[in-house]
Amino acid sequence: MIKKLALSAIVLASSLYASSEVNVYSHRHYDTDKKLFKMFEEKTGIKVNVVKAKASALIKRMESEGAKSPADVLITVDAGRLYQAKSKDLLQSINSNYLTTNIPATLRDKDNKWFALTKRSRVAVYRIGSGMDSKLSTYEDLADPKFKGQIMVRSSNNIYNQSLMAAMIAHHGKEYALNWAKGVVANMAKAPKGNDRYQVKAVANGIGSVAIANTYYIGKMVNNKDASQRESVKKVKIFFPKFENGGTHINVSGAGVAKYAPNKDNAIKFVEFLASKEAQELFAKANYEYPVLAGVKSSELVSSWGQFKDDTISINTLGENNKAAVKVFDQAGWK
Ligand SMILES: [Fe+2]
Repeated sequence: MIKKLALSAIVLASSLYASSEVNVYSHRHYDTDKKLFKMFEEKTGIKVNVVKAKASALIKRMESEGAKSPADVLITVDAGRLYQAKSKDLLQSINSNYLTTNIPATLRDKDNKWFALTKRSRVAVYRIGSGMDSKLSTYEDLADPKFKGQIMVRSSNNIYNQSLMAAMIAHHGKEYALNWAKGVVANMAKAPKGNDRYQVKAVANGIGSVAIANTYYIGKMVNNKDASQRESVKKVKIFFPKFENGGTHINVSGAGVAKYAPNKDNAIKFVEFLASKEAQELFAKANYEYPVLAGVKSSELVSSWGQFKDDTISINTLGENNKAAVKVFDQAGWK
């Protein structure tokens, strides 16, 4: 009897424990997120356990864990990755009135398997005094020979570039996109190497004049511990290109509830919290991203870069065109 009681106590304790936690697999690597997770814990009493790794590693892990996976929520920093997780059947549709009402349809999965939490735009960053401000216009135009030897951009294995290319394909088709990529390759100041910040630094130091980078890196460089980043970023400015028949390319970081989430209710609460006003305000303030929730303002620094109109294509398309984008890069010789 005592044995039985002890056993049921253990079962009860573990089920209580299980109902008060949420397991998050996250590719976001920002300090903001730590603060947000703490806020969620304090608000709900639900403990947030985080596994941090690259999206590709997290996706692989979820695949190999299968139905036994402890993952409740997957967070990644690119629509292409969210799409990949969905394609591998690692996410489940969730029914959340809050999320479907507050996150625009262009910023969430068609089947509600993932939701954008933040937006970032991929823009041109030019060196002040290089004369590029009067030359820059559309993404399409970056292939024009007038930019010969001027463009710094990272390699094509990077998902941010793949999503930009996916958008180009959505706007103009593969053939056009291939010619565009060839034009950009011909305009590169150097063969692709390094991350977005590396490109911005190069341009600041006179290697090429236009870097392609995500906006939030500029914010991170402005407020960096490293003086060389702060100095570099003083020499550059953001230009928001547009697609000829659209707006500025945006990408998202987002979250989906795992297919086998052991704590599904907590997972939904957690994603809803990340899309709440207080979380969105923190995302906007601390990580220089654009909030997805209407009515939440960007930070002062981010607003100072200027206004732009989001591109018109759905974020879903970025994932759908990812394979085609990778192929186009290969064909164009974009390393
Ligand atoms: Fe990033």
